[in-house]
Amino acid sequence: MLSKTLLPLIVLAASVTAAVPPTKRATCSGGQTTANEACCVWFDVLDDIQENLFSGGDCGDEAHESLRLIFHDAIAFSPALTAAGQFGGGGADGSIMAHTDVEIQNPANNGLDEIIEAQRPFALKHNVSFGDFIQFAGAVGVANCNGGPQVQFFAGRSNDSQAAPPGLVPQPTDSVTDILNRVGDAGFSTVELVWMLVSHTVAAQETVDPSVPGAPFDSTPKDFDAQFFVESMLNGTLTPGSALQSGEALSPYPGEFRLQSDALIGRDNRTACEWQKMIADRANMLQKFEQTVLKLSLLGFDQSTLTNCSDVIPIATGTVADPFLPAGMSMDDIEASCDSTPFPSLSAVPGPVTTIPAI
Ligand code: HEM
Repeated sequence: MLSKTLLPLIVLAASVTAAVPPTKRATCSGGQTTANEACCVWFDVLDDIQENLFSGGDCGDEAHESLRLIFHDAIAFSPALTAAGQFGGGGADGSIMAHTDVEIQNPANNGLDEIIEAQRPFALKHNVSFGDFIQFAGAVGVANCNGGPQVQFFAGRSNDSQAAPPGLVPQPTDSVTDILNRVGDAGFSTVELVWMLVSHTVAAQETVDPSVPGAPFDSTPKDFDAQFFVESMLNGTLTPGSALQSGEALSPYPGEFRLQSDALIGRDNRTACEWQKMIADRANMLQKFEQTVLKLSLLGFDQSTLTNCSDVIPIATGTVADPFLPAGMSMDDIEASCDSTPFPSLSAVPGPVTTIPAI
């Protein structure tokens, strides 16, 4: 039993722990306000990258690549390797930018050298860590997309890192089981895999088939909509390039590119129902994406040691259309793969089949 003298001390200690520190709102030199003055530097970074990296706030190639880079830096994190006594990677530690010469050798990182080299000077100029910069640029880039998400941003990652071990970033040639196991090792569940793949709604490829650079994964690569989940479920009949490549699946529409991994995950009985659910409820899709990207951005870090600078991230503008079938398609072209719920009923845009332009 606790003594009478000890009990008040414990109660006092508990109330001290529970006390919330007063919010110190700060006004930065540019006049912006933020919850913490340590975040002021990020307004300068924001202005600089919107103008000089994202071509005035565009949801173009640099924004897409910056979102991809979040994943490739963070997911190289393996508690299984650590448990086996090896270095398991530092997660969202910026190692892909600090040790590009090593990590770019990983075939899963093909094509990322361009965005890494484009981003690095901004991180150095503003004296922020590579890990923080990668997360920030990804969050800002995706907020540039029409109807984009509000990805939270925490700052304060150290700039010390080691090169990530090879083989930890999923590839489009991997089986669904391998991908689930890999992200599972990093702490993500089956549904969280689907939630992070919402990213492919603002995406294109350059390296799987280099003959069709910029071939997008859906017909609206600047819109943060659910079209990727619709169009990835259409029956595949063609290739946008001259031949089917390793890691590619047949696509339903001229100009559009389909990764083999996306084709399989959309149709696998472990993931198909969640895939389809992304079409039915856009608010849910946004919220699940935001929550999963936040989790990715914290891999290898303790959130309580970082500063919440989310109020620097711009709020996306623009609207997106409700899910639709591209012109010339019908519900008969959908390969519905969820046994428990019917595929949402969608109408086709009027007109004939056209070609989706590269981005
Ligand atoms: C199953 C896991 C995943 C696989 C196998 C995969 C694979 C790929 C591949 C092969 C590309 C094309 C790269 C190129 O040729 O330029 C790509 C593009 C992209 N990926 Fe993923 N990805 C996965 C998950 C993710 C996640 C979790 C994110 C973000 C959170 C992401 C974001 C992107 C973006 C935004 C692009 C477009 C880049 C651009 O347009 O230049 N991917 N992905």
